[in-house]
Amino acid sequence: MGPREPFFLLSLILKCFLAFPEVLASLESDGGWLTSQHAALLEEDSCTVERRDATLTYAQFIEQYAFARPVILQGITNNTEFQECCTKAKLLARFGDHLVRLSTANTYSYRKVDLPFQDYVDQLLEPQDLASLGSETLYFFGDNNYTEWGPLFQKYRPPPFRLPGTTAAYSFGIAGSGSGVPFHWHGPGYSEVIFGRKRWFLYPPEKTPEFHPNKTTLSWLLDTYPFLPPWERPIECTIHPGE
Ligand SMILES: *[C@@H]1O[C@H](CO)[C@@H](O)[C@H](O)[C@H]1NC(C)=O
Ligand SMILES: *[C@@H]1O[C@H](CO)[C@@H](O)[C@H](O)[C@H]1NC(C)=O
Ligand SMILES: *[C@@H]1O[C@H](CO)[C@@H](O)[C@H](O)[C@H]1NC(C)=O
Repeated sequence: MGPREPFFLLSLILKCFLAFPEVLASLESDGGWLTSQHAALLEEDSCTVERRDATLTYAQFIEQYAFARPVILQGITNNTEFQECCTKAKLLARFGDHLVRLSTANTYSYRKVDLPFQDYVDQLLEPQDLASLGSETLYFFGDNNYTEWGPLFQKYRPPPFRLPGTTAAYSFGIAGSGSGVPFHWHGPGYSEVIFGRKRWFLYPPEKTPEFHPNKTTLSWLLDTYPFLPPWERPIECTIHPGE
């Protein structure tokens, strides 16, 4: 990742593994990861990030977005095969006994804990506990062992666009409804949802949001976000599989 103007960003796994009961078809595409939705999460409807489809050219991407603003790319890659490898049954069969390195869900002072993937899924993959601090919440995001997970990652089709002068590093994670990392600085990145959905909150480099580095993303969403005046609201959107 090259030196770039960072965006403050926060991402929240929303209803991560939930399919709407009324949309039964989506139950078939949850990969077996369906869990209960966090009771505190309501359906959000505002998206202030542009969505572009596969007609977006590389030149347009560079000119309009790469150095200026976030964008959601739709249908630009086909990760059907990768998705099929990421069902709960397949990942547990293949990686259940492998250790995964978990991080605490706070902004600084990341504590790391190694746990078998099966134990993580059985014991920790649940909706974010409102009473917990981010520094007490463990989740699997990044810190991947590329020796063990490499053959799976090879099946991932990255988007065809690259920022000049950067190389990519993969970060793969699975987390429960309402979980997420609080605001932190980030260079250029691309994030694709395989199952579930993920809600993003971003601020441009010149705007630093108020947040407590050890509280959970969910507590920010419930206690701070609703009271922000319009000019202090983040850019936001929820992305779905294939975006
Ligand atoms: C995506 O790829 C799969 C094979 O991996 C193929 O069956 C499917 O038709 C493709 N979908 C689209 C929209 O191209
Ligand atoms: C990654 O996995 C390999 C193969 O199981 C193992 O030898 C190595 O110690 C692991 N690396 C880390 C940092 O855990
Ligand atoms: C956040 O938690 C860490 C320990 O995990 C502690 O050292 C630090 O002082 C806390 N920061 C704040 C602002 O409370």
